[in-house]
Parts: sequence; structure tokens; C-alpha cells
Amino acid sequence: MIERRHRQSIEGALERQAGVVLLDPRQAGKTTLAQEIAETRDAVYLDMERSADRRILEEPDLYLDEQMGRLVVIDQVQLMPDLFKALRGQIDRRRRKGFRNGQFLLLGSAADTLLHQSAESLA
Ligand SMILES: Nc1ncnc2c1ncn2[C@@H]1O[C@H](COP(=O)(O)OP(=O)(O)O)[C@@H](O)[C@H]1O
Ligand SMILES: [Mg+2]
Repeated sequence: MIERRHRQSIEGALERQAGVVLLDPRQAGKTTLAQEIAETRDAVYLDMERSADRRILEEPDLYLDEQMGRLVVIDQVQLMPDLFKALRGQIDRRRRKGFRNGQFLLLGSAADTLLHQSAESLA
């Protein structure tokens, strides 16, 4: 179970960096926590288990350019690993527009090495 202090450390990380990735294979409370955080700010929540949300991100830049400056939460990101490439570009674009922190909160539920590498590549 993700404790309340984890919420503080995640919100702290969002204040310092553009993207935060939470990877945990268990039912640890990631979705609950991310939705709580999303409620406190201008944010959108997309779940890659929902086909409607997957379709939205089939053309990631088209949608994400419209969300410029807003926190974008992407749940179950392991279902769309190709997204990481687009997200790197988005983070660069947003930085150039002056949005440096708190842009993406990604949640993944796989203990998959490739996913960990993709997440690292966002740093
Ligand atoms: N802080 C918490 N305390 C008690 N139960 C929680 C807490 N956060 C989440 N839960 C419950 O634990 C289960 C898993 O939470 P969820 O947010 O779906 O986890 P994950 O997204 O990591 O799989 C859900 O039934 C949820 O209601
Ligand atoms: Mg979840």
C-alpha cells in the first residue's frame, strides 16, 4: 500500500522535474494516488487499458500539444511502450515553452526491464 508520505515525495518530484514514473507490479495504490494528485491541479488522466484513451494517444503529439502546460497522467503505460519516444519530444517542447516541471506522471504495473529502461531514458 502506498502511504501518504509517498504522495508528498511524488508531488515533490513533480515540482522538480518534468516527468515522474511510478513502476510497481503490485496493486500498490498507484492509480488512487495519481487521481488524488490530479484532482489538486490542472490535469488530465488517461488509462491505456481504456481503448478510447489509447486511441487518443495513437497520435500523441496531436493531443499532447493541446495539453501544453497541464499535468498529463498516463496509467498502465506498459501497454504502450512506444509512447516514451513521443514523451521525450514532448518534454523538450514543453521545456522550450517554459513548462519545466510537473508535466507527466506515468504509472506502470510491470516489473519489465525494458520498461525500466524506457523510464530511465526520460530522465
Ligand atoms: N491508501 C490506501 N489505503 C487503503 N486502500 C487503498 C489505498 N490506495 C488504494 N487502495 C485500494 O487498493 C486497491 C489497489 O489500488 P489501485 O490504486 O488500483 O492500485 P494500482 O493502481 O497500483 O494497481 C484498490 O482497491 C484501492 O481502493
Ligand atoms: Mg492502477
